[in-house]
Amino acid sequence: MAGWEGGDGDREVRTLNPSQTNPRLRYEFDRGSGYETEIRLTTALSALIPEDELLHSDHRFFQIVHLLTEYCWVAVHHCLCDLTEALDRGDTIAAGRLLVRCADTAALTVECLRVMANSLSQVSFLRMRDNLAGAASGLASPGSRNVRRAAHAVWAAFESAAADAGATPADLVEGTAPDTAATPRIAQLADVMVGLQRFDTQVLEWKQVHLNLVWQMLGGQPRAADEEDEGAPGRPRSMRGRSISDLERLAVRPLFPKLWLQNTAVYRAMSAVAPEEEAA
Ligand code: HEM
Repeated sequence: MAGWEGGDGDREVRTLNPSQTNPRLRYEFDRGSGYETEIRLTTALSALIPEDELLHSDHRFFQIVHLLTEYCWVAVHHCLCDLTEALDRGDTIAAGRLLVRCADTAALTVECLRVMANSLSQVSFLRMRDNLAGAASGLASPGSRNVRRAAHAVWAAFESAAADAGATPADLVEGTAPDTAATPRIAQLADVMVGLQRFDTQVLEWKQVHLNLVWQMLGGQPRAADEEDEGAPGRPRSMRGRSISDLERLAVRPLFPKLWLQNTAVYRAMSAVAPEEEAA
């Protein structure tokens, strides 16, 4: 691709690991190439904590996993904005494609956590945590907060698209059946509904894997608590001193609760279970 190769021969390249004595192991960047400029790679790499300020051998990895996740959430958020617009203009085909991207990008965030869970030992994390900025809390993550806010806009756009098509939630559910007689418009909206749930499932999966990682790193797995821990006073706390019980509550909070209510309604209707029977 024109303009994406090469660089300025006289330019002094920067290194991410200047203290590395083996020249072959030095990570060089900022060569002035079109590639680095076009995707703002030089700026992005400049966000990495300089080698001489790293607190621990796993600190760079820890920062990169967080940054990767935040970038993915920006991508998801961007997609949710486009999705809202697509639904507003009645373009359900585009909405379906955008939801594939949302769900698959959200899946990348789950993979990031798995890489962390598989290779960061508890001892290493706890040593590093002693030196990390005191009150840092994932609750302040802009990615997670903005995705949650955008999900409200998406849901409003989806509900009004369904209303415009004259489709009730039950019609949409019927539109997912293999032998559906739904009109193409309703069948497409039904696919959008399935896509929303697939996306929400990925986000919930992230929360579950994150919670599991927190139990690995800080302890406090609720079913493994010993008697002394009952009542939670001895349960582990986050860096801002809050009990991790908050996290357990957040881990089951979906982006689209009405979608999940619908699953319960369909189950009840199709299994003909009377509410009083179910309670017994
Ligand atoms: C060693 C790994 C990790 C540990 C021990 C950990 C620990 C925690 C704890 C204790 C909380 C509760 C916060 C509080 O009450 O102040 C929390 C929340 C959170 N963390 Fe992590 N975390 C880890 C990795 C990550 C990563 C890689 C991300 C990616 C950006 C992340 C994002 C978040 C978010 C978004 C929340 C808010 C909870 C939610 O939205 O469900 N965490 N984390």
